[in-house]
Order: sequence, then structure tokens, then C-alpha cells
Amino acid sequence: MHTIDRSKLERLLHLEELKFHIEHPRSYALYQRARKSLHGGVPMLWMIRWAGSFPIFVKEAKGAHFVDVDGNDYIDFCLGDTGAMTGHAPEATVAAIQHQAARGITLMLPFEDAIQVGEELQRRFGLPFWQFTLTATDANRFVLRMARMITERPKVLVFNYCYHGSVDETFIVLDEDGTPISRPNNMGPQIDPIYTTKVIEFNDIAALEMSLSTKDVAAVLAEPVMTNIGIIHPDPGYHDELRRITRKYGTFLIIDETHTICTGPGGYTAAYALQPDFLTIGKPLAGGIPAAVYGFTSDVADRFDTRLVVEDSDVGGIGGTLAGNALSIATMKATLEHVLTPAFYEKAIRLQEKFTTGVEAVIQEFELPWIVKRLGNRSEYWFRPIPPRNGGEAFAAIDHELDRYMHLFTLNRGILLTPFHNMALISPETTDIDVDYHTAVFREAVVGLLV
Ligand SMILES: Cc1ncc(COP(=O)(O)O)c(C=O)c1O
Repeated sequence: MHTIDRSKLERLLHLEELKFHIEHPRSYALYQRARKSLHGGVPMLWMIRWAGSFPIFVKEAKGAHFVDVDGNDYIDFCLGDTGAMTGHAPEATVAAIQHQAARGITLMLPFEDAIQVGEELQRRFGLPFWQFTLTATDANRFVLRMARMITERPKVLVFNYCYHGSVDETFIVLDEDGTPISRPNNMGPQIDPIYTTKVIEFNDIAALEMSLSTKDVAAVLAEPVMTNIGIIHPDPGYHDELRRITRKYGTFLIIDETHTICTGPGGYTAAYALQPDFLTIGKPLAGGIPAAVYGFTSDVADRFDTRLVVEDSDVGGIGGTLAGNALSIATMKATLEHVLTPAFYEKAIRLQEKFTTGVEAVIQEFELPWIVKRLGNRSEYWFRPIPPRNGGEAFAAIDHELDRYMHLFTLNRGILLTPFHNMALISPETTDIDVDYHTAVFREAVVGLLV
């Protein structure tokens, strides 16, 4: 089995950084200019966390590719970290944007497209009632409020190293001794999450039972498969237990499908017949136009309605002036109808299988202690020999230097992977050629490291 020579890795990384600098002069110049007006030189703080020493500035994107301001062409396997899983600028989405933008963008009144989207969401996810927000973060924030309001319980429960957007209650992890702590570098929390939240490891049924048995937990907020610390599948039978135990203690189950919509048209929920009380999802629903939704059962709707004071429904903490705007909804309708279709998933999942097989073959060829995991049209490789069962194990396996090398090596050869981990998504327009090219570049990166 091969191991990595760390000093060689350091040297290679340095060479890749030089290559990156030489090939991105216009991005560099724009970055220098941007630093004078944008905090950190980027529109949003986390955009400084790419593998190069400055961000690439994009000229345009279409389908599975984008071109930067220096004229470099990239295959995009990041796809806006799922926001552009539809491919960039899909025709039906763009047509809907153009059509609706000319007829009113935000109305503060409902219109018929919203009903059609509600009906389609019912069909896909099986829940009867739906509401619209602009981001998955907001969808999660609002369902947590609803759950606490209905149950009159103060706490929520999440899994170690989950990510559900910038939702205050979720920034909690277990330290090395298994003690809950505010997630390191949690920026200015309004309240320490140890007071609002219980945190346990994914796949730990005993910890779940113990945490909920005190009957102070309003809701469990869960991705059905963890995706934000790599892909972590549930153990066989885990979801049955999660549902049984949440029901037993009167705790709501919220399933966040924002990333696991990679599984199929109805997400993991439809594919595995889950029965959540709430479901949240955002990102690709409108092809990248800000749009998200949350759905819930009739029982939730009834119990919520008995507590709702309509006169204060605009100032009760669940809202957003632009939420449910006409442009988002019309775009969502078109994207669901024409882009995120069963045919798309069929093709994308086949290609993702090919992507995974390609990476696996290289891992085997060089006897690397690495693995690759897949969920629908998403895959991710790990620098550890066996799949982690929970967030704690996954976090311990992170190798920042190796991550950075793989990202920069591929970026310098025209491939964009998702930052922060080694994730790849397939869009409707990704091709066999794109996937084969990735396999070849991945192999080249490995060869450079080992030989
Ligand atoms: C599972 C999950 N839920 C919610 C969100 C929040 O999405 P947004 O940042 O679009 O609000 C994310 C973002 O990465 C996510 O991964």
C-alpha cells in the first residue's frame, strides 16, 4: 500500500501554486481591484476558501462548463455546490426567467404558478403543504420555529459535523471527549448553541434514544445521508429507528434534502420511502435563482394553525418580503418540469457511476488507502481506507494539504471540484468525455504524488 511523501507533496503544491499564478493574470488583477471595495476581495467571505491563492473570476458559464476571464475553460463538477446541479443557464429555466421578469418580479400576492409548484412538490415528496423561502437556510430556520412553537419544547437535535446553512442552532459539534461545544470559529453566535441544541453522532441509535427520552427536543434536523463532511450513508435500518424513536418521544423529524436531491427526483425521501414531519430543500430548485421550500404534514398544519395569530403572521419570525416572489416560483416551476426530470437523473446517475468507477480503478491500481462514495449523481473521495460512519470519524480523516493539492492540480488542468471537500456532481450536460478526462487527470495527480 502506498503512502504519501509529505515533503514531495509540499513541493508539488508549491509548483501548482506557481502554475496557477501564471495562468490567471486577469483573475489576479481583478482580485487586486476587488480588494479595494469588497471585503476580502470577494462578494461573500467563504469565496476566499478556494485552492488557489486568489479566486478565479468567471466570464461565463453554460451547461457543464465555464470560462474564466483569462480564457481558461473548465469542466464544472462543483456546479455551485448543488445550486447549479441543473447545469448552468438551462434553456427552460432561462426562458422562464425572461418570460416572468417581463411580467413582474415580486408581487406580494400569490399567482397560479405557485399552486402548480405546490402540487408538483406534493407528488415528488409526499407531503401535503408547502411554503416558499429564498434559501434552504431560511427553510430550516422556519421549520425549527414551527416545531418549537407546536411542541413548546426548547431544544433541537442535530448530528455531529452536519451543515444546514447558517442556522444558529446547528453550529455545535462534539469535542474529542464527546462533549458538545460551539463549533470552532462559530462567528458571534447570539447564544451558545449548547443551550439550544443537542448533538450526537449520526448512526448512533442509543445516543438518539437517550437524547430524546427527556422529551425536551422539538425536532431532529437531519440530512438523510450526511453530505457536508463527505458522504456518510445511514446504517441499514437506521432511518426506521430514527423515525420510530422520534415518534416515540413526540419529536418532529425534519429531513433536509438540499443536497440529497442528488438521489432522484423526490430526493432520498421518495427513493427510500421516508416519512418526515417536515422536509426542506433549496439550491437547485430554480436552477440557481434563489428559491427554497419547506413542506409538512396535515398534522403539523393543523397544530400550527391552532396557534397562529394571523394579525401577527408578518412579524412572528417566519417571513421574508421577497420569499415566494413571482420570479423564483415561475423559475422553479420550469426547472422542476423541464430540467430536474427523471430522464436527467437516469443519465446523470449512470455518468456518476462511471466517474466513481474511474476513481476507484486508480485507487486500486496504486493500492491507495483511499475510497470513493456515491449517492445518486454525487460522489466524493476520501483519504482513508474505510467509509466513516459518522461526522466525528469523517472530520478526523480530513487532510487539508492533500485536499488542496488535488483541487489545485485538477483546477490547473481545467476541472473544478467542490471546495472544502472532494465532491463531484453531474449536470444534465456533463458528458462521458468530461468524466473520462477527470479520471485521466485524477490518475495523473496520483502518479505525480507517488512515483
Ligand atoms: C444540507 C444543506 N442544507 C441547507 C443548506 C443551506 O443552503 P443555503 O446556503 O442555500 O441557504 C446547505 C448549504 O450548503 C446544505 O448543505
